[in-house]
Amino acid sequence: MDRFLIRGGRPLHGEIQIGGAKNSALKLLVAGLLTSDRVVLDNVPRIDDIGTMRLLLEQHGLTVEEVPGEGPYGQTLSVGGEITNTEAPYEIVSKMRASILVLGPLLARCGEARVSLPGGCAIGTRPVDLHLKGLEALGAEIRLEGGYIDARAPGGLVGARIVLPFASVGATENLLMASTLAVGRTEIVNAAREPEIADLVACLVAMGARIMDQGSGTLVIDGVPRLHGARHAVVSDRIECGTYACAVAIAGGDVRLLGGQIGHLGAVVRVLEEAGIEVAQEEGAIRVRRGGALAGVDVMTEPYPGFPTDMQAQFMALLSVADGASMMTETIFENRFMHVPELNRMGARINVHGASAIIRGVPALSGAQVMATDLRASFSLILAGLAASGETVLSRVYHLDRGYEAVERKLSGCGAVIERIRG
Ligand code: UD1
Repeated sequence: MDRFLIRGGRPLHGEIQIGGAKNSALKLLVAGLLTSDRVVLDNVPRIDDIGTMRLLLEQHGLTVEEVPGEGPYGQTLSVGGEITNTEAPYEIVSKMRASILVLGPLLARCGEARVSLPGGCAIGTRPVDLHLKGLEALGAEIRLEGGYIDARAPGGLVGARIVLPFASVGATENLLMASTLAVGRTEIVNAAREPEIADLVACLVAMGARIMDQGSGTLVIDGVPRLHGARHAVVSDRIECGTYACAVAIAGGDVRLLGGQIGHLGAVVRVLEEAGIEVAQEEGAIRVRRGGALAGVDVMTEPYPGFPTDMQAQFMALLSVADGASMMTETIFENRFMHVPELNRMGARINVHGASAIIRGVPALSGAQVMATDLRASFSLILAGLAASGETVLSRVYHLDRGYEAVERKLSGCGAVIERIRG
């Protein structure tokens, strides 16, 4: 298993290219199930989760090929072909929860789907009840058996009004994709409003779907009999961008984040500015600069446009070395403070009380051997390592490789000392 060795204490200067959004690219590939034509996606990040999604779609019968691209970064993938198998097996779904997204499209296209229940994962129980209730509202018959979701809609799906009790990103996406091929009108009320949803809507519309999205949290979909192929560029990854902004904030320096879109980072930028970081949109890039000391800030995670849960761990590392006390409240996932004991081993002073953590700023962190527990938590330990004195060795880097492309190249290109130790 690979590890990262980080020698802290170097400020960052230069440029970092931000890739296409993982959480968008995965769903856009799944949208390939909705048509037998080819969907071509530019700016797909080169990360392990994309490889897992390729495997899943290929075992459904599709082909996914790398083709010459038009995008400024990442890879261009072409997905298409006939569905020959409507089962998503445990081996793949248990590896990557986003696999549950094939349920709606398979059901809409083939009238049946069998998808393994994803089960628990490191950051909480994460049920899929909202996905299933929504599909039932569209006329699906669903049975849970032997750890699998068995869904059927022999006569096809029929449009309905679905009110989500919580603006779940995955449930919104599953229902949105399924309803593009349902008969009649579907309304999804209290839909998630993350930029990745708007990206999926844009791609589906390019494929011939009829969707009205005013950004107000209600999606109105008029079903069509079939969708066709399209070409679409994946939106820039706001979480990768926010993560590297935190790297500059904790290590110090002045970096341009190429391709970053400040409009998708409102809540993150507000917190960075409160902490004393300068953030400015320049042509084609976001410039992040740290002048003086960091100030403590209270933060609460919320659905978009609130502060993203996927930035919580990174800000915990940052606030560990800020002046005064900060409070971080996690409202989206019930068990997402697993990085805290690792940060504390590096000298942070963090106490968790239920859904909140009190972070008492310390003047400096010290390098240590630490272990990654999930994707974003892994990066919080890299951030701590960039600011710490001495050496930090991060193990279980495979968590990081699931969702961040070329971390060591991007950071060392700006002056950080970080290397991958293979094996
Ligand atoms: C997506 C993102 C993930 C991000 C999260 C919240 C992908 C691949 N992943 O995950 O990185 O952290 O949005 O922004 O895009 N819930 C239920 N029942 C359901 C569905 C969700 O109770 O049927 C709960 C979950 O347990 C969780 C909360 O709702 O506590 C948020 O989940 P959701 O918005 O669905 O996140 P994901 O789509 O899984």
